[in-house]
Amino acid sequence: MIVVTGATGNVGRYVVKELAEAGAEVRALTRDPESARLPSGVTAARTEDLPFDGADALFLNPAVVWGGADALLRRAAEQGVRRIVLLSSSAALDPGPGNPIGTHHRELELAIEAMDVEWTFIRPGAFAVNSLQWAEEIKSGDVVHGPYANCRTAPIHEADMGEVAARALLGDDLVGRAPVLTGPESLSFADQARIVGEAIGRPLRYEELPREVVREGMLRGFATPEIADSLLDMFEAGVGVPAEISPETERITGHPGRTFAQWAADHKADFS
Ligand SMILES: NC(=O)c1ccc[n+]([C@@H]2O[C@H](COP(=O)([O-])OP(=O)(O)OC[C@H]3O[C@@H](n4cnc5c(N)ncnc54)[C@H](OP(=O)(O)O)[C@@H]3O)[C@@H](O)[C@H]2O)c1
Repeated sequence: MIVVTGATGNVGRYVVKELAEAGAEVRALTRDPESARLPSGVTAARTEDLPFDGADALFLNPAVVWGGADALLRRAAEQGVRRIVLLSSSAALDPGPGNPIGTHHRELELAIEAMDVEWTFIRPGAFAVNSLQWAEEIKSGDVVHGPYANCRTAPIHEADMGEVAARALLGDDLVGRAPVLTGPESLSFADQARIVGEAIGRPLRYEELPREVVREGMLRGFATPEIADSLLDMFEAGVGVPAEISPETERITGHPGRTFAQWAADHKADFS
């Protein structure tokens, strides 16, 4: 049996779908099992119960352990989990001062490496789904505001990450590996806004905001000052610099990574 944390989330719901389609027995963790919409045959359980009894393998999304993973990892070890597939981050390649996101993910990786388990660390770069932060602006207008219009990333579709995670959970070829995953194209934030506009049939314009304005918005929302500064530094460093495309996504899934245009088409309803 395979336990999937964050099972209702962007990546988790694709991990669950892939595993269920492969015929695996899946326990999907969520804070609200009653309202989780899961494929038939998949059992829902409460995240806070850490129900790992009978589990051979675990998909771990750091979103469920931002407060610390010690209790979850201890329970996984006690209950005999033999394999952990961690949704890490390409930021883990460069941990240290000025990179709190990379440090957080690398510390999680190290904690898992210290356990007596088989592990795979999936290290994606920027998620395509980050563009959903524009949804409310797009619903009410034709302009998207954000930092560094010409910052380039290679946004990855969550479905591709779900396929890689399922492969790591079901097979043995990714044990002990930490593949960096990206989408197939280097696109600026302005390109991404244009492509969402093409998907919804309405031209969109990306308007760059000064760094300080974006930083204040991040602090009002999800970020600590350290996280806001590190993200903005990363975006600034990406201005005009082609994003690296990892060959791993296609090598592992056996097909080219889904494009951002495909992602935008899949998410049309979220923008209207
Ligand atoms: N965004 C990026 O560009 C990026 C890049 C590299 C790596 N990452 C990694 O990917 C992670 C996000 O993955 P994702 O987008 O698939 O996650 P997500 O959709 O944001 O969250 C997954 C699920 O986790 C549960 N959850 C959220 N907050 C929780 C909390 N405080 N306690 C317990 N459960 C919680 C929610 O499910 P329920 O409500 O059903 O419980 C949610 O559906 C990041 O945390 C980071 O580690 C992100």
